[in-house]
Amino acid sequence: MAERLTKAATRNIFYGGSAFFLAVFVALTLHTHYYMTATSAPNSALSESVIRGKEVWERNSCINCHSLLGEGAYFAPELGNVWKRYGGDEDREGARATFAAWMASQPSGVPGRRQMPQFHLTEQEVNDLADFLEFVSRINTQGWPPNQSG
Ligand code: HEC
Repeated sequence: MAERLTKAATRNIFYGGSAFFLAVFVALTLHTHYYMTATSAPNSALSESVIRGKEVWERNSCINCHSLLGEGAYFAPELGNVWKRYGGDEDREGARATFAAWMASQPSGVPGRRQMPQFHLTEQEVNDLADFLEFVSRINTQGWPPNQSG
């Protein structure tokens, strides 16, 4: 072993280290992708209506006021778990009806309350949104948000 690092040894450590950590990075990325699609939110649960609901969500920029699983604006409640808040796990039809009634009744006009606009969505769009929010509520977020009020 040389007394001190030679240029060649330094270069080898640099290239070897870079290659090793690149491999670790690629492996972790693949694992994350696999975990997301197979475990967190299985692709098999992505129905046509869930996909349409996501498009309604995007077209109307709900994220400009709401957060979804923590991402988005903090003007209005978190909606990643609104399905659970509406009791959807026990009473699916009840939660859908509550959601549709909410969408139809906005803005509430209650003084001093933050207001949500009326979006004039069709029945189909509201149904698709409900499917989307139900799907989102089933994503395994490992206990986040910590309470049901989001
Ligand atoms: C301009 C801001 C704004 C936008 C955009 C917006 N919302 Fe809201 N939303 C609010 C506010 C404010 C509240 C809370 C109102 C209240 O408590 O009276 C709310 C509440 C809700 C609730 C009830 C949450 C709960 O915990 O009871 C649902 C469901 C909801 N919004 C869905 C949507 C959907 C779906 C969209 C997109 C189509 C949307 N919102 C877009 C402002 C917004």
